[in-house]
Amino acid sequence: MVPQLTQSPSDLRTLSQRNGGAFPRIAVTRQIDGRDMRAVHGTRDMPVWGWEFGQRDTDRRDPAAQAAARIEAVVDFVERLQLPPG
Ligand code: HEM
Repeated sequence: MVPQLTQSPSDLRTLSQRNGGAFPRIAVTRQIDGRDMRAVHGTRDMPVWGWEFGQRDTDRRDPAAQAAARIEAVVDFVERLQLPPG
């Protein structure tokens, strides 16, 4: 989708490198969730996964908890992508 984006997505393997060697878990969680970022950024190209995951609650009992669990799983995955410091 990159040609259609107004702003290029960054290399998600270098988040720790760009943060002094520590994985910026809270910032990444907020970026992926996205629900609190509309006001600051205006429209953003990246999907608001906090909404998307909540809408796909398979048992429809606790969409908020399900969204949080899925976001955490994605953050864990992104953390495993990190390149070693260097
Ligand atoms: C599960 C899939 C995705 C994950 C885990 C993810 C994660 C992230 C993260 C962590 C950042 C911040 C990067 C930084 O601070 O350097 C980011 C930024 C960005 N992402 Fe994604 N992203 C996903 C899907 C997408 C998709 C589908 C699009 C576009 C259609 C997109 C477009 C962007 C753009 C344009 C930015 C930078 C500008 C901004 O803040 O909006 N992302 N993404």
